[in-house]
Amino acid sequence: MARVFSGIQPSGILTLGNYLGALKHFVVSQSEHEAFFCIVDLHALTLPQDPLELKQQIRTLAALYLAAGIDPQKATLFVQSQVSAHSELAWLLQCISYIGELGRMTQFKEKSEDRETVPVGLFTYPVLMAADILLYDTNIVPVGEDQKQHVELCRDIAMRFNQRFGSVFVVPEARIPKVGARIMSLDDPTKKMSKSNPSPASYISLLDDEAVIRKKIMRAVTDLGREIVYDEANKPGVSNLLVINSLCSGRSIPELESLFIGKGYGDLKKDTADAAVSVLGPIKRRAERALAGSEIDEVLAAGATRAREAAQPTLLRVQQALGVR
Ligand code: AQP
Repeated sequence: MARVFSGIQPSGILTLGNYLGALKHFVVSQSEHEAFFCIVDLHALTLPQDPLELKQQIRTLAALYLAAGIDPQKATLFVQSQVSAHSELAWLLQCISYIGELGRMTQFKEKSEDRETVPVGLFTYPVLMAADILLYDTNIVPVGEDQKQHVELCRDIAMRFNQRFGSVFVVPEARIPKVGARIMSLDDPTKKMSKSNPSPASYISLLDDEAVIRKKIMRAVTDLGREIVYDEANKPGVSNLLVINSLCSGRSIPELESLFIGKGYGDLKKDTADAAVSVLGPIKRRAERALAGSEIDEVLAAGATRAREAAQPTLLRVQQALGVR
């Protein structure tokens, strides 16, 4: 059975983008493959976090994983910092990674752009991500479009290691959804929707109330003209709403385009808000129930034990190949 691994940073409350581009696909994959899903808290530390808030966000992310449909009987759900092999392997992989290849990472360029000082961890983040993936002999990595470059780097590192030290790593492949791999920001549809964006109007959080979801979608930036057609280059705002609507309602984009012939942007927004609320309402209610109970702690403790057992043999193989054990 193929192995699936993916992670999400607790760097804010998950957005509709994280859900449609990644989490929704994790849920499908857990029934088809052996699955490991991680709360990558060490990645969140690459930019400043308030410790108390981070702790809460880790729990909230666990609740959202469960609320979205991750089943601890089928998949291993765990917190990255509870499995020390991630940090140990990251160091070993850093020693065969190059400054040049890390400097080419688009996400590093974007996230370091306006900063006075740039943490080293932000630069080496993709190597820790490679360690996360490679530790579990992963075949498939379901991710959104923005993580494609990092998975490609992970493949390069794995192949380089195998060439130098023998066949130690399974070389993984990214699985990127055909639609919804890059949900755009509501207040600037030329930018990706991100959970750490300081403007809450830019994203829909999975814990937003129904009224807030409706308000944010009704205020979403749209484009010149009146026609409701999918055209990413000329109508990024309308195209983004069509994608969100299609993924939440199960209707195809051409179907929606026909439905909205002769109608206005207001109609599209209202219909999209209805579709989003119908998907997110039940997730929010389940997450709130999970947060109030003790299931999360039990699931994460069992997940960490299973993850450690799976990760340790890989780490040992790498250490032996390198001559350090
Ligand atoms: N806008 C998006 N559309 C589709 N997929 C997305 N993903 C992120 N944003 C979108 C996918 O969600 C998964 C988890 O992402 P992450 O937490 O590892 O970090 P990220 O990719 O940097 O996501 P954010 O929301 O933008 O977080 P911050 O603001 O902290 O940087 C990944 O599979 C990602 O592709």
